[in-house]
Order: sequence, then C-alpha cells, then structure tokens
Amino acid sequence: MSLCFCLLMVRLLSLNIRGVCVMERIKGVLGERCDILCLQEVHWENETRVQAEKLWGGSAFYAEGPRRTAGVAVFVRGGVFDNVTLREVDPAGRFLMVDLEWAGKQLRLISIYASNDQVERQSFFHSLRPFLNDFSLLVGDFNTVLSPADLSVRNVFRNDVGRKELFSIMSDYGIIDVWRVLNHGKRDFSKRQLVKGVLKQSRTDHVISACSVTRLINGVTYIPHAWSDHAWVEVVFDGVKVRNGGGMWILNNSVLGEIGYQKRIKSLLSYHREQMDDAVDIFVWWEDLKTKIKSSTITYCKKRTWDTREDERDVRAVLKREASLLAEDPNRDAMIYSAALSFEAI
Ligand SMILES: *[C@@H]1O[C@H](CO)[C@@H](O)[C@H](O)[C@H]1NC(C)=O
Ligand SMILES: *[C@@H]1O[C@H](CO)[C@@H](O)[C@H](O)[C@H]1NC(C)=O
Ligand SMILES: *[C@@H]1O[C@H](CO)[C@@H](O)[C@H](O)[C@H]1NC(C)=O
Repeated sequence: MSLCFCLLMVRLLSLNIRGVCVMERIKGVLGERCDILCLQEVHWENETRVQAEKLWGGSAFYAEGPRRTAGVAVFVRGGVFDNVTLREVDPAGRFLMVDLEWAGKQLRLISIYASNDQVERQSFFHSLRPFLNDFSLLVGDFNTVLSPADLSVRNVFRNDVGRKELFSIMSDYGIIDVWRVLNHGKRDFSKRQLVKGVLKQSRTDHVISACSVTRLINGVTYIPHAWSDHAWVEVVFDGVKVRNGGGMWILNNSVLGEIGYQKRIKSLLSYHREQMDDAVDIFVWWEDLKTKIKSSTITYCKKRTWDTREDERDVRAVLKREASLLAEDPNRDAMIYSAALSFEAI
C-alpha cells in the first residue's frame, strides 16, 4: 500500500530593497528562508542578476522600468510548485504576474510597485483589472495606506484617487486586505521614515487577495528590516495534503480560512510534530493524527452556526462602506470602522 503525506507550508516574503545593488546586501536578502521572494525597486545590472540567480537557485523574473525607475522581481524556489507560469511583465516595471500551482491549489501572484504619484497610481491600479481572478494575490509596495488606522498620528491622512480606484477593484473582485482582517483593531507599520527628526510611520506594503487565496493564508506579518525603511512582508500559506493509495484527501478549504479552526488545527499539528521525532511507526503516527484532525474538524463545523455567518456578512458590509467613507473624508471618525473590525474577530 503506497502512503505518503506532507505538511505543506509555503512562505512568501516581499521587500522594497530601495535600489540596493551591493552584492553583500543582495546575498542577505536572497538568503532568507522562503519559497517566493518578491522585491521592489530592483535596478540590477546583468552581472548582478546572473550572480543573484546563482545564489537563489530557482526561477527569477524581472520587470524593469525605463531609465532605472520602478523595477520588480519575483524569485520562485525550485521543486516546491507543480507549475510556475510567467503571465505578464509590465514594461513600466510596475508589476509582474506569475501563476503558481501546488497541491491542487492555484495562485495568481501579482507583485506590485505602485507609483508615488496618485494619478499614476490610479491608472496603474485600473490597468490591473483584466488580470484579476478568483486566485489573485497582490503583494508589494502600494505606496498608499488603506485607512487612517494605517498611519501614525504624525502622518496626515490624505485623499488619494489611487486608493479610490484600489478600493473599487477590491470591491468589484472581492479582494480583501488580509493583514487587516487577521489583525482586528491593531496597528502596525511597514514603512518608517525619519523626516526632520519626526518618525513617520505608515502601512503602505500590502497583501490583498481574492477569497480563494485568502482561505489559504495562515498569517501576514511585518518584520522590520535593517537597511530598508520598508519592513519585510511575510505571508504564510498552510495546508495539509495526504495521498493514500490513489485517493487524495484535502481539508475543506472553506474552514481552513477560519481563524478558530486554524488555531485548533495548529496546536494539534505542533503537538503531533513533537511526537513525530520519537514515533517509530510513521503509519500509526499518521493514522492517529488523521483521526484527530477529522474529529476535531467535525466538532468545529458543528459549532459553526449559520447565524454567525450572517452576522459576519453584515460586518463586512459595514467595513466596506466605512473604509470608503474614511478614504473620502479626512474628518471622519474611525470609530465605526474599528468597532466593526473588533466585531469581525468574534
Ligand atoms: C543585458 O541583458 C539584456 C537582455 O537580457 C541585453 O539586451 C543587454 O545587451 C545586456 N547588457 C549587457 C551590458 O550585457
Ligand atoms: C502549466 O500551466 C500552463 C498554463 O496554465 C499550462 O499550459 C502548462 O501545460 C502547465 N504545465 C504543466 C507542467 O502542468
Ligand atoms: C466545505 O465547506 C463548505 C461550507 O461549510 C461546504 O459548503 C462545502 O460543501 C464543503 N466542501 C466539501 C468538499 O466538503
């Protein structure tokens, strides 16, 4: 009987490298443990690219702007994905689109480096529309915050036609700000700049995704970086795949996205991973884990009621409305928005 199992975890990192060309620094960035690496402000000479690709040892894709402006790069680890297809390279160096497949999952990765000019941003976001689908994940430096909660009090929340268009595509394609959904009512920043002795902080590096992808995301974290004024953005995708005989059993994706379920399964897995070191019989170990995952899942699903799901939908509608009102009106109080976010946590 053939049996194989894998605990699949895919880690994506994104960073605005601020045009860095120093090999030592590039080495540091490429040496990070991850499966997908998205970089912005990449203006490398051919020689640097050749060295970088050697260091990485997987696929590398670039979109370069004219005269060393913009510039995005995507690095994909070999042997992790079942299919990697480069779909689109923006000649202006503002985005790169790569389709990825693994364990029956699909992902359309769009690596973004938006302009710092709001009008250019508006037409740029608009130009992404034809490429968006249910499997889209947009990652990178969007050069705009999504709500006043993304700014420190030292910054001014300004109207932005670029953000307006971004909200409009998010609402048209069911795309959400994953960090915000997973971090209700919290504040964190992805960009820190000292301007005349004042520390300006904002969250302008985003991970936004369509529903099918959001369900696969375990967490989004900002990790401060030493020499870039941008933080690393980390996205962790998680999943469990089992192949037993010819049949494949995949956890129901729709529960995978739920935080309560994730917590439950994560603690179960970490407990069992520890047990695995001592386990002599992997078959017994796996059968035991499988049974526990199943019963835990059934218990979880029973607890879920339709009422709470409907409440959730109402809260999402409030969030959506408030976010666009906040985007338009600098004087609007973010109270309702924050309140709705804390509700969503339940
Ligand atoms: C760099 O590479 C590009 C295409 O990859 C090529 O057109 C160009 O001539 C190269 N430049 C040098 C200096 O080798
Ligand atoms: C990868 O995906 C592309 C486009 O969806 C398809 O044409 C190609 O055959 C696939 N390759 C493999 C090895 O599955
Ligand atoms: C997964 O869960 C959803 C929602 O609870 C349900 O509608 C769907 O049928 C389930 N899918 C499978 C394959 O069990």
